[in-house]
Amino acid sequence: MDFKVLLPQAPSELRHRLQRLINQSLEMAPSEKKTLPVWRADFFDVETSPFWLNLNASQKSYFLNSMSKALLKEAISIEHAGIAYANMMAILSETQEERQYYTTVANEELSHLYMLQPYFQFQVDIDAPEFSKQIAHFVENESKRDAIILIQVLLEGWGIHHYQALLAGTDNLELKDAFSKIVFDEVRHHGGGIILSQSYGIDLSADLVKNIQSVIDAVRVGPFQVAVLLADLNRLSSVPEITEMLSSIHAEQTTLAKLKLVQQNLAKILSDSDLERFNWQPWSLTEMSQIIASSVDNSKSEDPTTAASL
Ligand SMILES: [Fe+2]
Ligand SMILES: [Fe+2]
Repeated sequence: MDFKVLLPQAPSELRHRLQRLINQSLEMAPSEKKTLPVWRADFFDVETSPFWLNLNASQKSYFLNSMSKALLKEAISIEHAGIAYANMMAILSETQEERQYYTTVANEELSHLYMLQPYFQFQVDIDAPEFSKQIAHFVENESKRDAIILIQVLLEGWGIHHYQALLAGTDNLELKDAFSKIVFDEVRHHGGGIILSQSYGIDLSADLVKNIQSVIDAVRVGPFQVAVLLADLNRLSSVPEITEMLSSIHAEQTTLAKLKLVQQNLAKILSDSDLERFNWQPWSLTEMSQIIASSVDNSKSEDPTTAASL
């Protein structure tokens, strides 16, 4: 799958009419734009760092706005991918129960999308983040058995904790309500994945190990987006400076805690010896710093607060 827009060659009036049918079915008014919710600094673990405290008000606001847009863009793209996944699984279902189950999942992913997309508008067909493209790649290329493990056990298990953190890290009450509903649904999506993967039997093939490791690797690299933005705003370019900043935002501890969550989800279906087949070692602060230093190009950056936002 990709994130193509429906009927790109057709008059936009036809797209709007089809959109109205979706809205009627969901009993929702056409989604009106809402104010961008901004997550608090503590959500990003930066609030006690001198590299955060040193920033002026407009730099802090730029950081929180940019990161909040990135969070919403990722969540909205993942819901798009979730709808595609659940519909594909409904088609591939071999039993009535599976078909019914995946139909409920597809409907819930659709309502998640409609709860989130009024908060941030972007063109998902052009601008989907890398992580959601990786999910789309799994949906399109992996076998049904592997997709259940990758999407439902691994990623939706991760999604439960991520959405709980998003809920706790914002003061927007309406959005808190939306995340609370989403967490409730994702628990069922993850639970269904455990039941179905156990029903089909788990074959930890080399290909599945490689794909699971690719998700673990995305966590091992640490809080990359936060660190790049903070380094940029503080005009840090050397590895020792960036290492100091990473240490001040507890990069190693938060990465270890996230890896543990991933491991706990996999432990629901895999044995200890299976889990040992994966590399769970977080990158060292120096390794993280080297990657970040190569991403931060201070020479071309004037003041990032005046640059185009995400
Ligand atoms: Fe969802
Ligand atoms: Fe889900």
